[in-house]
Amino acid sequence: SGCNSESRGALVVLEGLDRSGKTSQSSRLLTYLEGLGHSVELWRFPDRSTNVGQMISSYLSNKSQLDDHTIHLLFSANRWEKRSLMETKLKAGTTLIVDRYSYSGVAFSSAKGLGDEWCKAPEIGLLAPDLVLYLDIQPEKAAERGGYGGEKYEQLEFQRKVAQCYQVLHDASWKIVDACQPIEDIEKQLQELVLECVMACQKGKPLANLWS
Ligand code: TMP
Repeated sequence: SGCNSESRGALVVLEGLDRSGKTSQSSRLLTYLEGLGHSVELWRFPDRSTNVGQMISSYLSNKSQLDDHTIHLLFSANRWEKRSLMETKLKAGTTLIVDRYSYSGVAFSSAKGLGDEWCKAPEIGLLAPDLVLYLDIQPEKAAERGGYGGEKYEQLEFQRKVAQCYQVLHDASWKIVDACQPIEDIEKQLQELVLECVMACQKGKPLANLWS
């Protein structure tokens, strides 16, 4: 009985290096689920629309400088300020497709040399994704795609470190998808994985918190 009033939405996160295709695949997933009649929204982190998000945006575009710990906590605060709305939406049955989440937070900051455990600590208690889709691409391949927009982290050497840091974050909720396949093939694989996840959540898979 998938359509009872108690069924919740799924929290689906897309992760990967810059230029791995997350953003275009996220909007394809939105269109797909809408087409099936699901209640679904596309979110992204950082959410640059909030006050905290504007500080992050200014940092990323090199308009302001911040200590590594400080910017890490701002990224985390930016997720915390959306947590209760996220929970409300999920419980009301809306599926959220989220372009980047806590894993970006930990991978990018630990790539700078901050400790993993320190990076994870402020993320504890945020909602745990039901599914993490990791779009796997070699840093060199991503760089070849061009269009690094000139933001702070869009540099090959740094992206190599981020790729290594992502590796240690994989858990049972992760599915690794080869991001170098044709775009429609990736789309098909993501559709299947997401649909399966949405069904499991409708059937009562409980919401959990990070990091569990
Ligand atoms: P975006 O290009 O997806 O908007 O993300 C901006 C940059 O911020 C991207 O290089 C990844 C980085 N980032 C972090 O360092 N920590 C975080 O928590 C998030 C969500 C993104």
